[in-house]
Amino acid sequence: MLDALKDELLSMVNAAADLPALDEVRVNALGKKGRITGFMKELGGLSPEERKERGQALNALKDEIAAALDARKADLASAHLKARLEAERVDVTLPVRPETEGRIHPISQTMDEMVAIFAEMGFAVAEGPDIEDDFHNFTALNFPPGHPARDMHDTFYLPDAGDKKMLLRTHTSPVQVRTMLNQKPPIRIIAPGRTYRSDYDMTHTPMFHQIEGLVIDEATNMGHLKGCLVEFCRAFFDVDDLPLRFRPSFFPFTEPSAEVDIGCSRKGGELKLGNYGDWLEILGCGMVHPNVLEACGIDSTKYQGFAFGMGVERVAMLKYGIPDLRTFFEADLRWLKHYGFVPLDIPNIAQGLTR
Ligand code: DAH
Repeated sequence: MLDALKDELLSMVNAAADLPALDEVRVNALGKKGRITGFMKELGGLSPEERKERGQALNALKDEIAAALDARKADLASAHLKARLEAERVDVTLPVRPETEGRIHPISQTMDEMVAIFAEMGFAVAEGPDIEDDFHNFTALNFPPGHPARDMHDTFYLPDAGDKKMLLRTHTSPVQVRTMLNQKPPIRIIAPGRTYRSDYDMTHTPMFHQIEGLVIDEATNMGHLKGCLVEFCRAFFDVDDLPLRFRPSFFPFTEPSAEVDIGCSRKGGELKLGNYGDWLEILGCGMVHPNVLEACGIDSTKYQGFAFGMGVERVAMLKYGIPDLRTFFEADLRWLKHYGFVPLDIPNIAQGLTR
């Protein structure tokens, strides 16, 4: 009779599909009101002989069922874990799928590339506010009050608030002023950022980007300026023999001032950069004017240096063949998918700026 019970209980144990079902089987067999427990309780009514024999048999059965329960429990637990691991599986060897992600805007990419090149030359990145005052944007940069150069900038003035005339900065040059007022030479910074002018047509948007450069120490001269810009332009446009030409120019904050052209060809209506005999203007630069140094508390008899400023959209359009400036700010996802950059390809000199 016990053999039949044993077979029945063992097959129940093996049939239990999960841990709660298995626990039911345990209670049914070994619980207070369980079947084996019930037989145990009957032992008292037996003769000593019978009790001993029956007791041993029941204990053996109890042990065997308990062992089967444990074994089944372990099996179910590991099956459960396996199923969970399978369901929550993460393949860490899978490559990321950049095509499903967003894109880096060509302006951000271009500024990152510029920062990477100048960082390699030892420049630090400096910042200033988009909302400036007249002093930092003009006066300290040697624009005298009423000077016509102020009008050339098509400045967005903010409504009068107190004694300071506030405006949206028309160039990144005020970051030069802020840096010189806060730092002692030697100074070597670049300042990428947003700039604003009241202008809108094929080649102008009211908000655009510039990158400013400034070096101040006791010995830096115009030769260093030229070397620095040659180095930058060749690295940025990835043209080893790209020629640069300096043309005399005027900016209130530099003396002498120059505009820089790079070599190009416009044959067949196609613009190509390189040593082809034609020229394209890309930036303004010069030696920092002594008046600017003095306005920023720097002794102009001891210190000197150079500055330059460049339009980011302009060089991005040249480098990446983007024909229309206004498309930069239309927030068209199809455009961004076409001209944008993969987020994980961070520009650096060692691996190449763009891949
Ligand atoms: N701030 C000038 C502009 O927006 C660009 C510029 C020219 C910056 C010459 C400079 C510089 O630092 O030296 O037109």
